[in-house]
Amino acid sequence: MSRTSQPTTQTSKHASHRWRIPTPQLVKRGKELAESGNTTKGIPACGACHGAGGVGESPTVPYLAGQYAHYTAFELQMWQRGFRRNSPTTMTLFSKLLDDQEIAALAAYYQQLGASAPPPAQRSDRHAD
Ligand code: HEC
Repeated sequence: MSRTSQPTTQTSKHASHRWRIPTPQLVKRGKELAESGNTTKGIPACGACHGAGGVGESPTVPYLAGQYAHYTAFELQMWQRGFRRNSPTTMTLFSKLLDDQEIAALAAYYQQLGASAPPPAQRSDRHAD
């Protein structure tokens, strides 16, 4: 047999990386948060603005589906820390309600949507005025 027998749990290449290969549990938690938010903490459902499945609402709300987890997490952290200053009334506030685990879960969830989500609509249609 000539099958490449790499165990799927092998993560040595990314062992020092903060964003490990997401577990199904992490993705599931991200999905719940994205779809329902967390009323106790006041976290809104991301999907209310970013669309079901994170497809976005062009041109005002960016898509999240298929974005690399570290990109999504990084943007949220930049808001948390005050380096990203746009969206003062929405994303700045929401990012501060999220803890590291929630960010990791949301980022993992949106990343894996890339495989099945439709491509963002009308990307070549930017100069439509
Ligand atoms: C009330 C609407 C609303 C909700 C709810 C919302 N967002 Fe956003 N989000 C936005 C808007 C609008 C932007 C674009 C901000 C800008 O750049 O001006 C954005 C931007 C982002 C970005 C940056 C994307 C990029 O490529 O720049 C991320 C990441 C993000 N949101 C994640 C989330 C997550 C995770 C949640 C759920 C906890 C969430 N958002 C809930 C409206 C919302």
